[in-house]
Amino acid sequence: MFKTMMEEVSIPMIIADSKGRIIFANRWLEKSLGYTRQEFLKSKLRDLCAPYEKIRYIFSSLPDIERTTEVDIDLQQKNDEIFTASISFSPFNYRQTPHLFIIIRDVTARRIREVKNREDEDRYRRLLAERNLLQNQLHRSSKVAFMGELAAGIAHEINNPLGIILGFVQDILDEIPSDDSLFESIKIIEKETARCVDVVKNLLDFARLKPPERIPVNIVELLEGSIVLLTPGIKKNKVSIKKNLKEKIPTIELDPQLIQQVFLNVMINAVQAMPDTGVLTLGIDLVYKEQSHESGNLIQISISDTGNGISEKNIHRVFDPFFTTKGSKGTGLGLSVCQRIMEDHCGKISIENRKGSGTICTLYFPIKD
Ligand SMILES: Nc1ncnc2c1ncn2[C@@H]1O[C@H](COP(=O)(O)OP(=O)(O)O)[C@@H](O)[C@H]1O
Ligand SMILES: [Mg+2]
Repeated sequence: MFKTMMEEVSIPMIIADSKGRIIFANRWLEKSLGYTRQEFLKSKLRDLCAPYEKIRYIFSSLPDIERTTEVDIDLQQKNDEIFTASISFSPFNYRQTPHLFIIIRDVTARRIREVKNREDEDRYRRLLAERNLLQNQLHRSSKVAFMGELAAGIAHEINNPLGIILGFVQDILDEIPSDDSLFESIKIIEKETARCVDVVKNLLDFARLKPPERIPVNIVELLEGSIVLLTPGIKKNKVSIKKNLKEKIPTIELDPQLIQQVFLNVMINAVQAMPDTGVLTLGIDLVYKEQSHESGNLIQISISDTGNGISEKNIHRVFDPFFTTKGSKGTGLGLSVCQRIMEDHCGKISIENRKGSGTICTLYFPIKD
């Protein structure tokens, strides 16, 4: 009865001795591997495997199996086709001699499904991350646009009175002798009013960003030119500059004034983050279509510093207009202006902390084919 049952159950089954020699195989094994039963009876378990599986540890430790053990092994059919099987080895004693009862299940379909599920899941996660990123960007852009209008309105209103105050203050300073008891106070009024004028000017720059006037530009030269503008400030800070401008970079169309503003804003931030000493590293590279998620080739410019970095708490806020950690010394408009300019150029800007210390700001410019 047991033998008949074994033959009828539609699962390949084997009985082997403890050395792995096949003593019995049911007809479903013939079906699944394509060998005849006579062929089986001459072979060992190991002979059913794909060539690369023959050295598996389990085959040399068959006599040591103490309880049912399941392993995935690739089996090879007579026609050389390979499939993955989950094989369970159950030891038992028959007439004081150890034997193995072996059941074979084809799990190829399951494995394929598992891999596919994993791929689907990965894709889903990627899409979700992309969506979140876009949502954040959209949120940020609309906030920037709104702030821009607001700032333009306020700045415009304040600009004229500030100009008038500054004019009168300067008149007074011209009139009173420098040993007058009020001279110092009025000097302070002048200085602080001038600072307000600066802030308002920044605001107006931010709000009144004109659409880019694009001309073909050699971006490497533009970047080098921006460094020159920055050099006086750099010497004072004992910051050294390292350049990795490897690739031959094609000319692209952009508004040089606006892009120079981006370079300067980012580099000034970098220099400010290294008050004592540090290294400012500039890199330009080409990113090819296949390496990026974009639809075309990109120019990638990276500006990194060895400064204090940005805290976890603030890293998501640095592009927010008016977000600054520099107190009255900052306006918090630098990076939001950069972002707007980059968006107007269909480019991208991102900033992140580097391993070790400091930040790296990366700018991407699309290259037209
Ligand atoms: N290279 C950098 N290293 C450290 N922090 C930075 C860097 N660049 C920007 N930040 C942070 O982002 C904030 C916003 O920068 P930004 O928009 O240029 O405004 P601001 O420079 O006027 O503060 C800065 O106050 C600073 O906290
Ligand atoms: Mg700044």
